[in-house]
Amino acid sequence: MPDALSSLYGGRGISLVSGRGSRVTDSEGREYLDFFNGHGAALFGHADETLVGALVGAAGKIWSPGAGFDSPARMELADILSGFLEGGRVFISNSGAEAIEAALKLAVALRPKRSRILACRRAFHGRTCGALSLTFNPKYKTMFKILLPNVEHYNPGELAERIDDDTAAVFIEPAQGEGGVYPLDPEVGREISGACEKRGALLVADEIQTGLGRCGAMLASELVGLRPDVVCLAKGLAGGLPIGATIWKGALGDFPSHTHGSTYGGNDISASVGVAALKLIKEKNYTAHAVKIGGELRSALSALKEEAPVIKEVRGIGLLNGVEVEVPSLDLVKSLQKGGLLCLAAGPRVVRFLPSFAASSEDVSEAVSIFGNLLNFH
Ligand SMILES: Cc1ncc(COP(=O)(O)O)c(C=O)c1O
Repeated sequence: MPDALSSLYGGRGISLVSGRGSRVTDSEGREYLDFFNGHGAALFGHADETLVGALVGAAGKIWSPGAGFDSPARMELADILSGFLEGGRVFISNSGAEAIEAALKLAVALRPKRSRILACRRAFHGRTCGALSLTFNPKYKTMFKILLPNVEHYNPGELAERIDDDTAAVFIEPAQGEGGVYPLDPEVGREISGACEKRGALLVADEIQTGLGRCGAMLASELVGLRPDVVCLAKGLAGGLPIGATIWKGALGDFPSHTHGSTYGGNDISASVGVAALKLIKEKNYTAHAVKIGGELRSALSALKEEAPVIKEVRGIGLLNGVEVEVPSLDLVKSLQKGGLLCLAAGPRVVRFLPSFAASSEDVSEAVSIFGNLLNFH
């Protein structure tokens, strides 16, 4: 890795130079099965033909006309996203954290007299200052003393009773990813939704990792009893190009003019690929594929658990899956990479598998066999 790059990330020690479907190749010509997919951004796998076609088609036209000008691509994207919530209004940005920042500001704009913002223990909502205030893990936050003071974190099961008339918004992931892969209990989801409705607090679903079919529905909220007023999307929305979106129910109102904005948000390249990506999920029925492949992965991993006591628990929903282990997850992630399988950690004891829509049943068998072989050594 060149010295000039910040050492924030801790290198994986290889350069990935190309990819196709569920496979990537490094600069030495070695192929890997990819269940990492750029932190889940490559939701469609790599070099999907339709998305490449949309990208190439957009590249020769206009890239950044500017947010004040009408853009057919941006308008079509907003139109489709608007259908996710009743009378949906849409703000398009460039990343997950920006989608969350917009939701935070929107909550303050729409509920100006309320002061409390609630989120979950173990939550991950991003690393910009507003989003980081909502993120739970002290490791990411303690040294930064400029975070929002009015965010409170509770266990999901306690949240409903904490919501009161002074609560502006509740931020929640339908399934926690980074925090250790914990799908929300639907009963708890319904209680939180009911309490928000009763008290007039905005329910903000962070669907940045869970949304767009990955968990087996366009929005995972519907699988876990959440009835959100606001939804944040990013990651797979443009198949891996930078994009974020904040969608809210139109009846709630809007930002006062010019109180938020973004130079690149909704640029024609990302928006064109985003439109193609959203259409592809429907055309290929990827939500059903996610249910099938995710189910196969979890049952094969659970079968492994019988033989490998190092596995404590297998959890997940659709293509978002985690294996809790009794050894440091990062060690396993590194060994799996050596064995030809890319995945990621979700905290110190959970190995996370994020296969893309391109993953097949054969890919699942191969991944589980690489994992099983490795566990024989632990
Ligand atoms: C649930 C969730 N929210 C927010 C974010 C932040 O997204 P980004 O890294 O694009 O800012 C992530 C990223 O992993 C995420 O998983």
